Amino acid sequence: MTCRAPAKINLSLQITGRRQDGFHELVSIMQTVGLWDELEIRPAPSFQFRCSQPTLTHGNLVERAARLLADETHASRASDIYLKKSIPVGAGLGGGSSDAAAALVGLSRCWNIPVGCERLRTLATNLGSDVPYFLYGGTALVEGRGEHVTPLPPMETVWWLLVNPGFTVSTADVFNELTPREWSSGEQTRQMAHQLNAAASPGPNNLQPALFRLYPAAERCYRAVAAVAPGATFVTGSGPTVCAGFRTRGEAENAAAELQPHSYWTAIAPTYRPEEGATPCA
Ligand code: C5P
Repeated sequence: MTCRAPAKINLSLQITGRRQDGFHELVSIMQTVGLWDELEIRPAPSFQFRCSQPTLTHGNLVERAARLLADETHASRASDIYLKKSIPVGAGLGGGSSDAAAALVGLSRCWNIPVGCERLRTLATNLGSDVPYFLYGGTALVEGRGEHVTPLPPMETVWWLLVNPGFTVSTADVFNELTPREWSSGEQTRQMAHQLNAAASPGPNNLQPALFRLYPAAERCYRAVAAVAPGATFVTGSGPTVCAGFRTRGEAENAAAELQPHSYWTAIAPTYRPEEGATPCA
């Protein structure tokens, strides 16, 4: 069985406060895009996990997802899992979280244990704040710590240029750098959820100033992309990946070509809705 684990972008991300447990309350619009990791799952006599990037094998969220699901359902963990990474790591694209959600869904099928959306959501929340969203995919309003997901009508196809400056960012560090004066009400994001379209300019990202203070190279990347896609450029999640939306693939390719001298990692991916069955909560 092969499962796709798509990347996400945050079309808007507002932080509304800090909780007792240290996590932050957020309001965000998330969208899956056509760039994905692949999880190959095969029945096997014992548990084995391998990754196309061997440094990511130890402590991978996929392995934690498998252990959690097996513990919760008293299933045997026996299976051979191979994770083929394509999504940059520590990039704000939710790759690790998407891999974890795909593991929960794929393994529950492979082990033949019917686990409903509600139970999967609980397990997903235990694995990470962005994991529940990937049980829905598509366009969604995400609130709370990340566990409250409201699907939105699919947005029209936009071609996203993704630009990664080639270093990883610690999400925890960016959240720690955030100050209360950078919090906001979340209203702008809730309003935006009613009128999503390709022509809309990107929403706010309250993590962006903290990211730029900690990683000046992320701001340089943002400025380079904004120079070729004025009015359309934004940082996804805690960064450092910078995105810009275009109506056609050709326009996105032209912008990518202009960025070539910077030697950044780039990808062009359309708005993506996971195939039927891949997202049990959708
Ligand atoms: O949940 P996850 O492990 O992905 O979060 C990584 C870090 O990001 C957390 O340890 C926390 O510092 C920060 N975070 C937060 N509030 C959220 C999500 C993440 O403070 N809603």
